[in-house]
Amino acid sequence: MRALVTGSTGGIGEAIARRLAADGMSVVLVGRNRERADAARRRIAAAVPDADLSCEVADLSLMASVRSLGERADPLPDVVVSNAAVVAPLDAVTAEGLQLTFATNHLAPYLLLRTLAARLGDGPARFVVVGAAPRALARVPVDLDDLQFRDARTLGPLPSFRPFAAYGRTKNMNAMFGYALARRLADTRITVNGGHPGIVRQTGLGRHARGAFGVFTTLLNPFVPDVDFGADNPHWLATASEVEGVSGRYFVRREEVPTATHTTDMARQDRLWDSSARLVGLPVTL
Ligand SMILES: NC(=O)c1ccc[n+]([C@@H]2O[C@H](COP(=O)([O-])OP(=O)(O)OC[C@H]3O[C@@H](n4cnc5c(N)ncnc54)[C@H](OP(=O)(O)O)[C@@H]3O)[C@@H](O)[C@H]2O)c1
Repeated sequence: MRALVTGSTGGIGEAIARRLAADGMSVVLVGRNRERADAARRRIAAAVPDADLSCEVADLSLMASVRSLGERADPLPDVVVSNAAVVAPLDAVTAEGLQLTFATNHLAPYLLLRTLAARLGDGPARFVVVGAAPRALARVPVDLDDLQFRDARTLGPLPSFRPFAAYGRTKNMNAMFGYALARRLADTRITVNGGHPGIVRQTGLGRHARGAFGVFTTLLNPFVPDVDFGADNPHWLATASEVEGVSGRYFVRREEVPTATHTTDMARQDRLWDSSARLVGLPVTL
């Protein structure tokens, strides 16, 4: 069995990759930086001596790089964990002209999983899209008319919290995309599920935190569990027999949970799907 894990150069993704390697899977670590990917590979190999590991370099904020990753995957993976994410400044824009948080957190999994699904055809696979806490996300619905946060004022009164609110919207996009992809793959042997890893420390996610938000995340750190806790739910979704054949659901701590109605609304999911297709240059139909 082969697994591909994005964002596995550190944090929760590395812990997921380590668990999958310990299960005996061949694991492809995806990172944007060769040295960081190799360093993660060495750490996992030290913890799991028989680990079968390889690295793929891809900058997931760039759609050309994501497309190439999806097209060159060989052999095709049996498990894909879309885990990479950032909380970037609102004015950070990629060389392709896309807002960085939106491109990395939403468009990258959209393009990667669609590309892999097309190549997998009738083959079986499990896709896991790492999201975030549904209760917190209920407060930050996706603005389908402003996917790239051009109107910053709608992200709340405190400027230092706005990048995190934008990140929250992209995590809602993850849930919406997971449901929409699962519907479109219902007649295949590919399953797609979303899951919250839990709030955990030792990750790089808050690295851009400034002002009141920076203080908030620093104060929170001693009271939250570590990355291995965060790996549990995504790893379980990727491997457990209990969720064999289950698709289009969302899980927290191995329990199925509902997400906000603004994420389960199929018309909203389809609008996001269509806009995303246009932005990455794919046809709307799978
Ligand atoms: N930490 C939490 O409390 C928490 C809570 C809820 C949900 N989550 C979710 O858990 C997942 C993992 O987050 P984390 O906390 O482990 O964060 P993290 O430590 O910052 O890890 C993020 C990973 O994504 C990679 N990445 C970022 N931008 C990339 C790009 N352009 N191309 C390729 N890789 C890129 C990073 O690689 P580099 O090494 O190159 O930066 C890193 O490996 C995310 O989906 C996040 O939304 C986390």
